[in-house]
Amino acid sequence: MLKIVKDTVSSLRAPSKEVELPLSQKDEDLLLQMWEHLKESQDPSFREKHPSLREGIGLAAPQVGVNKRLIVIHYPVDEEKKEYITYLLANPKIVSQSVKECYLEAGEGCLSVDKEHPGYAYRSYRIRVEAYDALKKENVLIKAMGFDAIALQHEIDHLSGILFYDRIDKKNPFYKKDGAIAL
Ligand code: CO
Repeated sequence: MLKIVKDTVSSLRAPSKEVELPLSQKDEDLLLQMWEHLKESQDPSFREKHPSLREGIGLAAPQVGVNKRLIVIHYPVDEEKKEYITYLLANPKIVSQSVKECYLEAGEGCLSVDKEHPGYAYRSYRIRVEAYDALKKENVLIKAMGFDAIALQHEIDHLSGILFYDRIDKKNPFYKKDGAIAL
């Protein structure tokens, strides 16, 4: 279980640096620790023993105090079959994005943000991301859409010090954009 940097800390707003490839043992270990943190956070019996632990599906290295371009995403797509979407990525870069947008109807959440920030954060519905995949141990081109694309954009934003509520219209947080898909 890692200590999470909250949005009251200035390093969370700082840009993160690219990591060198091949990945150092230190950077690979950090990705594995972040993955472990997410898995523990999704385990109800583990959370019961650690009441301060919040359930999460994604983490970026600056959220654990390391300003490097490393992100992890882990969430179940089919809990029955124990199927998960898992990304352990270094230097992720959005190389294309759709004009079509989407948003989470219930709003986004973030392990670094304790306060409520109601409203819609608009994101591209489809994106392509180039990255080094630390599980596959190769460079990959990820094609993501919908929730998957939102999760990737949320974590990649962290590498620029951007938080989800920066994307919510302050004056009209529930403004509905024409053509945007609600998820
Ligand atoms: Co976040």
